[in-house]
Amino acid sequence: MSDAGNGFTERATRELARVAAVFAAGEAEIADTYFNWDQRDRDKEVLWLTKQAGREIESTFTGLKEIVEKVGGDLTASDQYWVDRWGGDVDRNWLEENLWRTKQELNHGNRCVNIIEWLTGEPVDIKEVVRRYNRWTPDPSLPDMKEWVRLAEVFKEQEARQEPWARLINSQGLLEGGSCGLFYAASQLSGSELNDRLSEAFTVVLDDERGHGPANIYQIADAFTQQEAVDGARGLMVERGIQRMRMRNEQFSFPIDEARIQDIAAGNISLDVTKAIWGETLAKFID
Ligand SMILES: [Fe+2]
Ligand SMILES: [Fe+2]
Repeated sequence: MSDAGNGFTERATRELARVAAVFAAGEAEIADTYFNWDQRDRDKEVLWLTKQAGREIESTFTGLKEIVEKVGGDLTASDQYWVDRWGGDVDRNWLEENLWRTKQELNHGNRCVNIIEWLTGEPVDIKEVVRRYNRWTPDPSLPDMKEWVRLAEVFKEQEARQEPWARLINSQGLLEGGSCGLFYAASQLSGSELNDRLSEAFTVVLDDERGHGPANIYQIADAFTQQEAVDGARGLMVERGIQRMRMRNEQFSFPIDEARIQDIAAGNISLDVTKAIWGETLAKFID
Protein backbone atom coordinates (compact mmCIF):
# COMPACT_ATOMS: atom_id res chain seq x y z
CA MET A 1 0.00 0.00 0.00
CA SER A 2 1.20 3.47 -0.80
CA ASP A 3 2.17 5.74 2.08
CA ALA A 4 1.88 8.80 -0.17
CA GLY A 5 -0.04 11.81 1.04
CA ASN A 6 0.00 13.53 4.43
CA GLY A 7 3.35 15.06 3.58
CA PHE A 8 4.96 11.66 3.07
CA THR A 9 6.85 12.59 -0.10
CA GLU A 10 8.13 15.77 1.49
CA ARG A 11 9.39 13.87 4.54
CA ALA A 12 10.99 11.23 2.29
CA THR A 13 12.73 13.90 0.22
CA ARG A 14 14.04 15.63 3.34
CA GLU A 15 15.22 12.36 4.85
CA LEU A 16 17.26 11.40 1.77
CA ALA A 17 18.49 14.94 1.13
CA ARG A 18 19.88 14.97 4.69
CA VAL A 19 21.84 11.76 4.04
CA ALA A 20 23.36 13.25 0.88
CA ALA A 21 24.06 16.51 2.76
CA VAL A 22 26.07 14.76 5.49
CA PHE A 23 28.31 13.03 2.96
CA ALA A 24 28.75 16.22 0.91
CA ALA A 25 29.97 17.97 4.06
CA GLY A 26 32.19 14.96 4.84
CA GLU A 27 33.92 15.04 1.46
CA ALA A 28 34.39 18.79 1.83
CA GLU A 29 36.00 18.25 5.27
CA ILE A 30 38.42 15.65 3.90
CA ALA A 31 39.53 17.91 1.04
CA ASP A 32 39.66 20.97 3.27
CA THR A 33 41.76 19.14 5.89
CA TYR A 34 44.16 18.13 3.11
CA PHE A 35 44.35 21.64 1.65
CA ASN A 36 45.27 23.06 5.07
CA TRP A 37 47.72 20.26 5.89
CA ASP A 38 51.42 21.00 6.36
CA GLN A 39 52.18 17.70 4.59
CA ARG A 40 50.82 18.87 1.22
CA ASP A 41 53.48 18.32 -1.42
CA ARG A 42 53.82 17.99 -5.18
CA ASP A 43 53.57 14.18 -5.22
CA LYS A 44 50.32 14.27 -3.26
CA GLU A 45 48.91 17.01 -5.52
CA VAL A 46 49.75 15.04 -8.65
CA LEU A 47 48.24 11.88 -7.16
CA TRP A 48 44.87 13.35 -6.16
CA LEU A 49 44.54 15.30 -9.40
CA THR A 50 45.45 12.24 -11.50
CA LYS A 51 42.90 10.15 -9.63
CA GLN A 52 40.30 12.89 -10.19
CA ALA A 53 41.20 13.14 -13.89
CA GLY A 54 40.66 9.37 -14.15
CA ARG A 55 37.11 9.63 -12.80
CA GLU A 56 36.25 12.60 -15.04
CA ILE A 57 37.70 11.27 -18.30
CA GLU A 58 36.26 7.81 -17.69
CA SER A 59 32.84 9.50 -17.18
CA THR A 60 33.36 11.12 -20.58
CA PHE A 61 33.97 7.76 -22.30
CA THR A 62 31.09 6.13 -20.41
CA GLY A 63 28.77 8.98 -21.46
CA LEU A 64 29.91 8.72 -25.08
CA LYS A 65 29.30 4.97 -25.10
CA GLU A 66 25.78 5.47 -23.79
CA ILE A 67 25.09 8.04 -26.52
CA VAL A 68 26.50 5.87 -29.30
CA GLU A 69 24.49 2.88 -28.09
CA LYS A 70 21.27 4.92 -28.12
CA VAL A 71 21.96 6.55 -31.47
CA GLY A 72 22.54 3.13 -32.93
CA GLY A 73 24.93 0.82 -34.70
CA ASP A 74 24.26 2.65 -37.97
CA LEU A 75 26.91 5.16 -36.91
CA THR A 76 29.57 2.78 -38.16
CA ALA A 77 28.02 2.54 -41.66
CA SER A 78 30.73 2.87 -44.27
CA ASP A 79 28.70 5.30 -46.37
CA GLN A 80 29.29 8.78 -44.99
CA TYR A 81 25.85 9.92 -46.24
CA TRP A 82 23.99 7.28 -44.22
CA VAL A 83 21.65 9.52 -42.24
CA ASP A 84 18.58 9.09 -44.45
CA ARG A 85 18.62 5.41 -43.50
CA TRP A 86 19.17 5.99 -39.81
CA GLY A 87 16.97 3.56 -37.90
CA GLY A 88 17.52 4.78 -34.34
CA ASP A 89 14.97 6.18 -31.96
CA VAL A 90 16.35 8.88 -29.68
CA ASP A 91 14.65 11.47 -27.54
CA ARG A 92 16.14 14.76 -28.73
CA ASN A 93 16.06 16.27 -25.23
CA TRP A 94 17.81 13.22 -23.76
CA LEU A 95 20.45 13.50 -26.48
CA GLU A 96 21.08 17.18 -25.86
CA GLU A 97 21.31 16.71 -22.10
CA ASN A 98 23.72 13.78 -22.40
CA LEU A 99 25.94 15.41 -25.03
CA TRP A 100 26.16 18.46 -22.76
CA ARG A 101 26.91 16.43 -19.64
CA THR A 102 29.56 14.39 -21.47
CA LYS A 103 31.23 17.56 -22.76
CA GLN A 104 31.28 18.93 -19.22
CA GLU A 105 32.96 15.76 -17.86
CA LEU A 106 35.69 16.04 -20.50
CA ASN A 107 36.19 19.67 -19.53
CA HIS A 108 36.59 18.66 -15.86
CA GLY A 109 39.15 16.01 -16.82
CA ASN A 110 41.04 18.40 -19.08
CA ARG A 111 41.23 21.04 -16.36
CA CYS A 112 42.76 18.50 -13.94
CA VAL A 113 45.24 17.34 -16.58
CA ASN A 114 46.25 20.95 -17.38
CA ILE A 115 47.26 21.46 -13.73
CA ILE A 116 49.11 18.13 -13.54
CA GLU A 117 51.09 19.02 -16.68
CA TRP A 118 51.87 22.45 -15.21
CA LEU A 119 53.08 20.81 -11.97
CA THR A 120 55.24 18.13 -13.60
CA GLY A 121 56.22 19.69 -16.94
CA GLU A 122 55.39 16.32 -18.53
CA PRO A 123 52.52 15.36 -20.88
CA VAL A 124 49.86 13.15 -19.28
CA ASP A 125 48.89 9.90 -21.02
CA ILE A 126 45.10 9.92 -20.53
CA LYS A 127 44.77 6.31 -21.71
CA GLU A 128 46.94 5.25 -18.78
CA VAL A 129 45.12 7.56 -16.37
CA VAL A 130 41.76 6.01 -17.29
CA ARG A 131 43.18 2.47 -17.16
CA ARG A 132 44.36 3.05 -13.60
CA TYR A 133 41.75 5.31 -12.08
CA ASN A 134 38.37 4.56 -13.61
CA ARG A 135 35.29 4.02 -11.45
CA TRP A 136 34.52 0.42 -12.49
CA THR A 137 37.67 -1.60 -13.07
CA PRO A 138 40.54 0.32 -11.43
CA ASP A 139 44.01 -1.21 -11.22
CA PRO A 140 44.14 -2.99 -7.82
CA SER A 141 47.92 -3.52 -8.01
CA LEU A 142 48.66 0.19 -7.50
CA PRO A 143 49.57 1.49 -4.03
CA ASP A 144 46.80 3.28 -2.12
CA MET A 145 43.95 1.79 -4.14
CA LYS A 146 42.22 -0.43 -1.57
CA GLU A 147 39.29 1.91 -0.87
CA TRP A 148 38.94 2.92 -4.52
CA VAL A 149 38.69 -0.76 -5.55
CA ARG A 150 36.14 -1.44 -2.80
CA LEU A 151 34.09 1.57 -3.98
CA ALA A 152 34.08 0.15 -7.52
CA GLU A 153 32.58 -3.08 -6.07
CA VAL A 154 29.91 -1.09 -4.21
CA PHE A 155 29.10 0.84 -7.42
CA LYS A 156 28.71 -2.36 -9.43
CA GLU A 157 26.51 -3.99 -6.78
CA GLN A 158 24.30 -0.91 -6.53
CA GLU A 159 24.14 -0.31 -10.28
CA ALA A 160 22.62 -3.79 -10.67
CA ARG A 161 19.67 -2.88 -8.41
CA GLN A 162 16.39 -2.97 -10.33
CA GLU A 163 14.17 -0.89 -8.05
CA PRO A 164 12.72 2.09 -9.98
CA TRP A 165 14.22 4.54 -7.47
CA ALA A 166 17.70 3.00 -7.60
CA ARG A 167 18.89 5.19 -10.47
CA LEU A 168 18.27 8.28 -8.34
CA ILE A 169 20.98 7.25 -5.93
CA ASN A 170 23.35 5.46 -8.33
CA SER A 171 26.23 6.93 -10.30
CA GLN A 172 24.26 9.78 -11.80
CA GLY A 173 22.17 10.26 -8.69
CA LEU A 174 22.22 12.36 -5.56
CA LEU A 175 25.73 11.43 -4.55
CA GLU A 176 27.35 11.95 -7.98
CA GLY A 177 30.68 13.64 -7.40
CA GLY A 178 30.10 13.26 -3.64
CA SER A 179 27.43 15.93 -3.97
CA CYS A 180 30.22 18.43 -4.73
CA GLY A 181 32.06 18.47 -1.36
CA LEU A 182 35.58 18.23 -2.81
CA PHE A 183 34.77 20.63 -5.66
CA TYR A 184 33.53 23.26 -3.23
CA ALA A 185 36.59 22.97 -0.96
CA ALA A 186 38.92 23.32 -3.97
CA SER A 187 36.96 26.26 -5.38
CA GLN A 188 37.57 28.20 -2.12
CA LEU A 189 41.39 27.99 -2.33
CA SER A 190 43.71 30.97 -2.69
CA GLY A 191 47.14 32.20 -1.61
CA SER A 192 49.48 30.47 -4.09
CA GLU A 193 49.68 29.93 -7.83
CA LEU A 194 48.69 26.27 -7.42
CA ASN A 195 45.72 27.19 -5.21
CA ASP A 196 44.61 29.84 -7.69
CA ARG A 197 44.73 27.33 -10.55
CA LEU A 198 42.81 24.76 -8.49
CA SER A 199 40.23 27.34 -7.50
CA GLU A 200 39.68 28.43 -11.09
CA ALA A 201 39.30 24.84 -12.34
CA PHE A 202 37.06 23.59 -9.56
CA THR A 203 34.79 26.64 -9.64
CA VAL A 204 33.84 25.46 -13.14
CA VAL A 205 33.48 21.82 -11.97
CA LEU A 206 31.33 22.92 -9.05
CA ASP A 207 28.99 25.00 -11.23
CA ASP A 208 28.44 22.05 -13.59
CA GLU A 209 28.11 19.35 -10.95
CA ARG A 210 25.53 21.29 -8.95
CA GLY A 211 23.23 20.49 -11.86
CA HIS A 212 24.19 16.79 -11.85
CA GLY A 213 24.10 15.42 -8.28
CA PRO A 214 22.23 17.67 -5.82
CA ALA A 215 19.64 18.78 -8.40
CA ASN A 216 18.30 15.21 -8.42
CA ILE A 217 16.54 16.03 -5.16
CA TYR A 218 13.64 17.33 -7.24
CA GLN A 219 13.06 13.93 -8.86
CA ILE A 220 13.04 12.13 -5.54
CA ALA A 221 9.68 13.49 -4.47
CA ASP A 222 7.96 11.67 -7.35
CA ALA A 223 9.86 8.41 -7.00
CA PHE A 224 9.16 7.54 -3.38
CA THR A 225 5.70 6.60 -2.24
CA GLN A 226 6.54 3.89 0.32
CA GLN A 227 8.61 4.01 3.50
CA GLU A 228 10.15 0.64 2.58
CA ALA A 229 11.69 2.23 -0.53
CA VAL A 230 12.97 5.21 1.45
CA ASP A 231 14.63 2.88 3.96
CA GLY A 232 16.15 0.85 1.12
CA ALA A 233 17.50 3.96 -0.60
CA ARG A 234 18.90 5.33 2.65
CA GLY A 235 20.74 2.06 3.29
CA LEU A 236 22.36 2.13 -0.14
CA MET A 237 23.25 5.82 0.16
CA VAL A 238 24.93 5.31 3.54
CA GLU A 239 26.95 2.36 2.25
CA ARG A 240 27.97 4.37 -0.79
CA GLY A 241 28.60 7.58 1.12
CA ILE A 242 30.91 5.98 3.70
CA GLN A 243 32.90 4.17 1.02
CA ARG A 244 33.10 7.37 -1.03
CA MET A 245 34.62 9.15 2.01
CA ARG A 246 37.19 6.36 2.42
CA MET A 247 38.04 6.67 -1.29
CA ARG A 248 38.43 10.47 -0.97
CA ASN A 249 40.56 10.09 2.16
CA GLU A 250 42.82 7.67 0.27
CA GLN A 251 42.85 10.02 -2.77
CA PHE A 252 44.21 12.79 -0.49
CA SER A 253 46.79 10.56 1.29
CA PHE A 254 44.69 10.08 4.47
CA PRO A 255 44.29 13.54 6.03
CA ILE A 256 41.60 12.16 8.43
CA ASP A 257 41.19 8.78 10.15
CA GLU A 258 38.54 6.04 10.09
CA ALA A 259 37.16 7.14 13.48
CA ARG A 260 36.35 10.58 12.05
CA ILE A 261 34.78 8.98 8.96
CA GLN A 262 32.44 6.97 11.22
CA ASP A 263 31.73 10.09 13.26
CA ILE A 264 30.74 12.04 10.12
CA ALA A 265 28.57 9.14 8.89
CA ALA A 266 26.76 9.27 12.25
CA GLY A 267 25.84 12.87 11.43
CA ASN A 268 28.35 14.69 13.62
CA ILE A 269 29.15 17.41 11.13
CA SER A 270 27.82 20.88 10.38
CA LEU A 271 25.73 21.14 7.21
CA ASP A 272 26.57 24.82 6.68
CA VAL A 273 29.05 23.87 3.98
CA THR A 274 26.41 21.76 2.19
CA LYS A 275 24.00 24.69 2.29
CA ALA A 276 26.66 26.87 0.68
CA ILE A 277 27.26 24.21 -2.00
CA TRP A 278 23.65 23.46 -2.79
CA GLY A 279 22.39 27.03 -2.77
CA GLU A 280 19.23 28.45 -1.25
CA THR A 281 16.63 26.49 -3.20
CA LEU A 282 18.10 23.08 -2.41
CA ALA A 283 19.24 24.04 1.10
CA LYS A 284 15.61 24.34 2.17
CA PHE A 285 15.40 20.53 2.07
CA ILE A 286 17.94 20.25 4.91
CA ASP A 287 16.79 23.08 7.15
FE1 LIG B 1 32.68 15.77 -13.43
FE1 LIG C 1 29.11 15.02 -13.36
